[in-house]
Amino acid sequence: MSGPDGHRGAANLVPVERESGAPVVLPAETLAWIEQRRAMYEDPRAAILPVLHRVQDELGWISLEAEEAVAQAMRMPLAKVHEVVTFYTLFKTQPQGRIRVDICQTMSCMLRGARELFAHMRDRYGVHPGETTADGRLTLHAVECLCNCECAPMAQIADTYHGPLTPAKLDELIAQAQPGETVSAAVTGTCAAAIAEKR
Ligand code: FES
Repeated sequence: MSGPDGHRGAANLVPVERESGAPVVLPAETLAWIEQRRAMYEDPRAAILPVLHRVQDELGWISLEAEEAVAQAMRMPLAKVHEVVTFYTLFKTQPQGRIRVDICQTMSCMLRGARELFAHMRDRYGVHPGETTADGRLTLHAVECLCNCECAPMAQIADTYHGPLTPAKLDELIAQAQPGETVSAAVTGTCAAAIAEKR
């Protein structure tokens, strides 16, 4: 389980066993972008978070081989890159479905119906948190507070925030979701305004 700020906690700093695959070669454009990012900071290693986000966006997840490619590009020890990747739940260390469904499991959302959303995902799509549907379309995650508690229960689907959700609304959004695209906002009333204000 992740911590309140979206990290996995110190216990997960221990390297985990993962399948090894072919080396990852980052495209020249990505390498050039990484250099630009490094140049923005007094300590170039401070660029590690945006760099990992970009690599994850491009590859879908962060494999050990991707960590090696990032370590090389960042001129950082692999162990440091691995520590960052395994500390934050935002970085995915296993292959992901084409659409990510992150349901908030923190108190406000749990009190207002998140349990029903998780049960619905189990019953309708056959997935528990951390699992991907058999067709590879969806991966479900239980995440910590999405900072829109007033819209509980909340979920982030294909990079867009939605709430308050019901199982029926969740189905509607999942049906609309396309990999790599955001779904038109289905937040309502004050929640729509609250989310827009924060952006
Ligand atoms: S508790 Fe779910 S968004 Fe804050």
